Amino acid sequence: MDFIDTVKNRHSTRDFDERPVSEQTINEIIRVAALTPSWANDQIWKVEVAKGNSLKQIKNMHQLYSQNGKTMSYEFPPLHRESMGTQGRSNVSTWSNDLYKYLKDEPSTMQNKSNNLFNAPAIAYLLMPKKSSLWSAYNLGAFGQTLMLAASNLGVSSMPAAEFVGYPQQLHKILNVSDEYQFGMGIGLGYLNEKSKINSFRSKRMNLNQFLTIHD
Ligand SMILES: Cc1cc2nc3c(=O)[nH]c(=O)nc-3n(C[C@H](O)[C@H](O)[C@H](O)COP(=O)(O)O)c2cc1C
Repeated sequence: MDFIDTVKNRHSTRDFDERPVSEQTINEIIRVAALTPSWANDQIWKVEVAKGNSLKQIKNMHQLYSQNGKTMSYEFPPLHRESMGTQGRSNVSTWSNDLYKYLKDEPSTMQNKSNNLFNAPAIAYLLMPKKSSLWSAYNLGAFGQTLMLAASNLGVSSMPAAEFVGYPQQLHKILNVSDEYQFGMGIGLGYLNEKSKINSFRSKRMNLNQFLTIHD
């Protein structure tokens, strides 16, 4: 696929269909993601992919906790939108208003899809050591984007979501991950459910003149 098409074809997929992603495809995607640059080539990433039974366990836990209103506690410290700078706060507000308007006939869709982890048949959890700097988070973010583009290039849809890593203590237990690592992000992988309205929603982007300055 042409590079620009690969980039444009990627968008957050909030409802996957039942088709599984083969282990071969997962390996292919991660092999490309591993080409991501990193600080002095430190390659701090660790990837745990949950599918099959381990994912079933995670989904059961997630549903139970979210339906009972258990507060999420991420290992990456989150920033409440009220504490964000104006640029981020304004974009988040535009995004959630647009999404709310788009789903006005079915307002519970987002919550349902989130509680069910977007029906993803596989989740790639991206971890980095607890002893890390912001540079490591930069590396991990770049890894995540390469991963999603590699998936897009193979016709595999993806969903980057903090929702996946909202109950990290349980993830450590289920996936048997050492406390020396922290769960940074989860990326759902699978095939798009074309009948689902939420999958046709597209988030807007700012105009270049809102964030770009070229200095001569
Ligand atoms: C770090 C990060 C966390 C995110 N967490 C969630 C989430 O928990 N739930 C969700 O529905 N979308 C989540 N998203 C998806 C964003 O809303 C989405 O990337 C953004 O609106 C741009 O849309 P696009 O991915 O379709 O281009 C997350 C994205 C990123 C990069």
